[in-house]
Amino acid sequence: MSLPPANAAHHDAPRPPDRDALVRQRSVAKYARRAAAYDASCGPTMPIRARAVALLRLAPGERVLDVGCGTGLSLPLLRAAVGATGAVIGFDHSEAMLAQARARVAQAGWREVTLVGCAAQELAAQPALAARVDALLFHYTHDILRSPRALAAVLACARPGARVAVAGIKYFSGWLAPLNFWVYLKNLGYNGAPGELRSPWDRLAPRLHDWHFEPTQWGMGYLACGLLRAEAGVPAEAVR
Ligand SMILES: C[S@@+](CC[C@H](N)C(=O)[O-])C[C@H]1O[C@@H](n2cnc3c(N)ncnc32)[C@H](O)[C@@H]1O
Repeated sequence: MSLPPANAAHHDAPRPPDRDALVRQRSVAKYARRAAAYDASCGPTMPIRARAVALLRLAPGERVLDVGCGTGLSLPLLRAAVGATGAVIGFDHSEAMLAQARARVAQAGWREVTLVGCAAQELAAQPALAARVDALLFHYTHDILRSPRALAAVLACARPGARVAVAGIKYFSGWLAPLNFWVYLKNLGYNGAPGELRSPWDRLAPRLHDWHFEPTQWGMGYLACGLLRAEAGVPAEAVR
């Protein structure tokens, strides 16, 4: 009996489905449906957004990246903090969401705000991010936080020591834990990979120092910040 060549398995094995691609596909489809009503659903989290931006301690002239910027609800706060001499860069893979962000920028006439339609996983190829940023805002960006490839690509855009603020949804702990199925369903409407809500920050936190964390919304949310470790900017290509 003749044996197959040593590399036959390599050629014949079906390629595993790319998890990021599946998650992104679901996310883009969800936001195509959700974009029109998105801003109206954000009222309860607006104070958390303001606090997350404040944690970045932005100064005039700095460069800040609004990760998964969506419809651009954080842009006015970020633009006000960095001023006309700074730069705000926002990116999102949902054209439906980004269209509203573009309208917001055009209406305000902000020339220092750049919007990029791309996936987090593709950031390395974006000219707008050729120079590293001083700060990163992750505001309700669960899918990006849970993808090692997306997270590495975002962190690679920031200088060592960059300030990072993160806010999002998480499971309740303790006596409110029986409500967690409802939390999961809530997150399902907004994310391609709605699970992993016990500690959604746990891929980001080890890449930061001076980590500060607080639960919000009676434990259904969190707000945290830290400084990017020098070695945290692993090139996205290195993450599988
Ligand atoms: C819950 S919304 C938050 C939007 C905005 N940060 C805010 O606070 O209003 C999550 C956003 O992340 C975007 N997103 C999810 N995965 C992404 C990815 N891999 N690359 C780029 N954008 C992504 C979605 O399209 C969506 O606009």
